[in-house]
Amino acid sequence: VVDKTELYAVKGMNDIGPFASEPFLHSAVWQHILGTAGTLLNQYGFAPVHLPVVEPTALFSRGIGAETDIVGKEMYTFTDRGDRSLSLRPEGTAGAVRAYLEHNLARTDPVQKWWYAGPMFRAERPQKGRYRQFYQIGAEVLGIADPSADAEMLSMLHHLCTALGLDGIAVRLNTLGDRESRQAYRGVLVEYLTARQGELCESCRGRIQTNPFRVLDCKRETCHAVAVNAPDILLSLTPASREHFDRVCALLGDLKVPYVRDPLLVRGLDYYTGTTFEFTTGLLGSQDAILGGGRYDELVELLGGPPTPAIGFAAGVERLALLIADKVAKTGPDLYLIPMPGAQSACLLLAGELRKIAPWRVEVDCSGGRVKHQMHRADRIRARSAIVIGSEELASGRGKLKNLKDSTDVPVELCGPAVHAALLDCLGS
Ligand code: HAM
Repeated sequence: VVDKTELYAVKGMNDIGPFASEPFLHSAVWQHILGTAGTLLNQYGFAPVHLPVVEPTALFSRGIGAETDIVGKEMYTFTDRGDRSLSLRPEGTAGAVRAYLEHNLARTDPVQKWWYAGPMFRAERPQKGRYRQFYQIGAEVLGIADPSADAEMLSMLHHLCTALGLDGIAVRLNTLGDRESRQAYRGVLVEYLTARQGELCESCRGRIQTNPFRVLDCKRETCHAVAVNAPDILLSLTPASREHFDRVCALLGDLKVPYVRDPLLVRGLDYYTGTTFEFTTGLLGSQDAILGGGRYDELVELLGGPPTPAIGFAAGVERLALLIADKVAKTGPDLYLIPMPGAQSACLLLAGELRKIAPWRVEVDCSGGRVKHQMHRADRIRARSAIVIGSEELASGRGKLKNLKDSTDVPVELCGPAVHAALLDCLGS
């Protein structure tokens, strides 16, 4: 006997489809998000890339940082048949830089603007907005140091939020400065935290020497109280880092992108330098970041390439979907064509004609079942209208377009242009 539940999806990993029981996992919502984001990224000059889901473990431990939670606690790592240590990608930036280096682009064509969408894997404790397989839409700009690239990325992301109809999103902005700035700040921060270590939680006490920046975004109240009074990194920035950050802020003013400076925003990956940002919402509880990113001007070099500035972001598709699921129409085809025996070819031809005239979504019921059952299916998949074609309709060349929302119908000539006009009338667009 097979225990079916043994074969069910792994905890924290979701099926996305038209059958989804939770609205945010409905494929119409995902199609809307991926379509909107893809169109927009294309408009801003990003080319799509499709990179492997599995990479050498060392790429992540070196790139993201062995001390981070992502690498230390959350990676799905395994040894393959050739005894190599491989990991499911927990994020997309390290792989993008790997590809950039592998194709020798730093030397031959250093400015690259890429976008990607796909699954990422982190063995975190699943909860609303946090999954073990989750999807990101992300983009990376490699080879550009100018602050206008930072500002344009933030402006594009602001544009994306508007295009998706998201409101109440806060744009949080910070800078981690260049290496020299961070070294100076580290000294100041370690001194400050050491003097207050009695007020910190155990893991933050441990982080004072290994990764003092992470103490700043600890969620515990006592640690947070220490963090809010910590010296500001702005005071430790080198003149060049300060100038870069000021320029980004000025450009955001010009572009009318509202933001708040958040001196506690340090991000959970070690590769960041300079500008960092997160877009957050008050609607998702503790999983409040819908996207995050920043500059990583030292990562290409860290992975063996020449010094190359870079900036990128990634957004969590599930979190976007949770926010907009109720607003996306989950309708089926615009027109459902139901052939009675002998009318299959007329239906298939009419459907083809309509799809050429306009991007109508037209489905022909090929089940060969009874009309009653076919109409039920049209309702179940939420088709917006239907035409039944039988011998009478074939003979007269006329039929009835039924609006499935209000059950009204109109007579229509059964040719592409006439049905197209009737659909426009009946459905609007
Ligand atoms: P991240 O902040 O780790 O950055 O992830 C980006 C976004 O992915 C988060 O804001 C969140 O929306 C989503 N996300 C992360 N973990 C989960 C999870 N377990 N379940 C659901 N959604 C999640 C990065 O990954 C960087 N690679 C971004 C970047 C690109 N920086 C520069 N370039």
